[in-house]
Amino acid sequence: MSSMNEKEKVRKRYDRWSRVYDAFDLGGVTYEKRFAADALGLKGTEKVLDFGTGTGAILPYVAGKLKTGKVYAVDFSEKMLERARTRVRKTGIQDRVEILRDDCENLSFPSDFFDCAIATFAFTSLPHPQKGAMELARVLKPSGRFAVLETGKPKKWYLLPYYWLIKPVARVFGYTYIDRNVPEYLVNAGLEILAIYRFGLTYCIKGRKREVEKH
Ligand SMILES: C[S@@+](CC[C@H](N)C(=O)[O-])C[C@H]1O[C@@H](n2cnc3c(N)ncnc32)[C@H](O)[C@@H]1O
Repeated sequence: MSSMNEKEKVRKRYDRWSRVYDAFDLGGVTYEKRFAADALGLKGTEKVLDFGTGTGAILPYVAGKLKTGKVYAVDFSEKMLERARTRVRKTGIQDRVEILRDDCENLSFPSDFFDCAIATFAFTSLPHPQKGAMELARVLKPSGRFAVLETGKPKKWYLLPYYWLIKPVARVFGYTYIDRNVPEYLVNAGLEILAIYRFGLTYCIKGRKREVEKH
C-alpha cells in the first residue's frame, strides 16, 4: 500500500468517526488530558501547538490558561475540525485559538515556532509516527516543552486483559496502534524526555527540545 493511500485511509476513517467521536466521549476532556495540559506549565504568553486536535476537546482548557498566547490546533480530518470549530465558537475562545487543516507529518509551520506542544492520542493514530515526531521536534523552539498523552501497555497485571481486548478493536476501527513505542519515536527525533506518568492504560510523556549547544 502506498503511503498516500495509507494517509487517505486514516483521514477518511476519522472523517467518518467525527459523527460519533464525541458521543462516545472519545474526545472528552478527561483527567489525563488536563494533566497533560498542566504538564506544559503554561504561563499565558505561549504559542501552543495542539498536534492532531481531532474535535478539539482540550482547546477550552488550554485556551483558559492563555492570556496573550495562542493555541494552533491542527488535524488533517476536515470533519473532525468542523467539530473543533463549533466547540471553539460555543466556548467563545476564538481570540486564543486558530484551527488549521494540516498534516502532522509535514507541518506548514516554520522551524522553532512553538513554545509548547500537546498531542493527545495522536501518535498511535499517525500513519508515520516517526515523521510526526521529527516534525514536532522541528517546529518546537529550543527548550520548548511538550506533553504527549497515549494509550499503551499497562504496568499493572490486572489491566492487561483490557489492553489485549482494546488493542485489536482500536486497530480495526480506528487505525490506532496502541502497542507503538511512542517514547522511542520522540527520543529518535532528538527530543528529551523528562518524565513519564502512568494512569492505568494511558501514560503522559513530558519533555522538551534540547537547547542548541554553544561552542
Ligand atoms: C485518536 S484522535 C485524537 C484526537 C484528539 N487529540 C483527542 O484527544 O481526542 C487522532 C487524530 O489524529 C488525526 N491525525 C492522524 N494522522 C494525522 C496526520 N498525519 N496529520 C494530521 N492529523 C492526523 C486524526 O484525524 C484524528 O483526529
